[in-house]
Amino acid sequence: MGKRALWQSDSVDISRVEADLDLTQTLFTEEQIQTRLAEMARQIEADYEGRDILLVGVLKGAVMVMADLSRALNRHVEIDWMAVSSYAGTKSSGVVRILKDLDTDLAGRHVLVVEDIIDTGLTLSWLVANLRSRGPASVEIATLLRKPEALEMPVEVKYVGFDIPNAFVVGYGLDFNEKYRNLRSIGTLAEHVYS
Ligand code: PRP
Repeated sequence: MGKRALWQSDSVDISRVEADLDLTQTLFTEEQIQTRLAEMARQIEADYEGRDILLVGVLKGAVMVMADLSRALNRHVEIDWMAVSSYAGTKSSGVVRILKDLDTDLAGRHVLVVEDIIDTGLTLSWLVANLRSRGPASVEIATLLRKPEALEMPVEVKYVGFDIPNAFVVGYGLDFNEKYRNLRSIGTLAEHVYS
């Protein structure tokens, strides 16, 4: 079995492939991710009935979540993107920079921020305050992953896919040095890779 299998499907025994890729464990398979995103989508549809939604994705990690969550929603949405940077290596520096701002005027809009992971909460607490200053009707957060043990800033998150332990996770948009984002599943990275 070649390494290609990990990118193609979760239906194969990928233990050997994972070892090759420095992943110690699969946390969530492609199927588990899609099932949870569909559940979140049903909740969002119910909560936002009769209101427009502007999905705001945070590049780059949220690309996969945005693609799949937006397509799981059986209703109209608009999509816009921001790029912010708060990390050097694997540790959160707490320094947030806007690398790419929204194209959309947020005045009166119902904004739903779509994230892949909330770790320390520094990025999202800063981002939500920034977005709220632009006069939207509402700002809420949907994240696939959250690390409750790592939280340094309180962030009110309306939609959480999975709470996870404080381990270094990659795949499905999440990177280590820009790699692993294109894995279909989410796994933990072996410590020797990043220490
Ligand atoms: C990740 C993630 C969040 C942020 C969360 O992005 O997408 O934006 O970290 O971390 P925090 O809760 O500790 O602030 P990252 O800075 O790694 O950029 P990327 O999405 O381009 O990989």
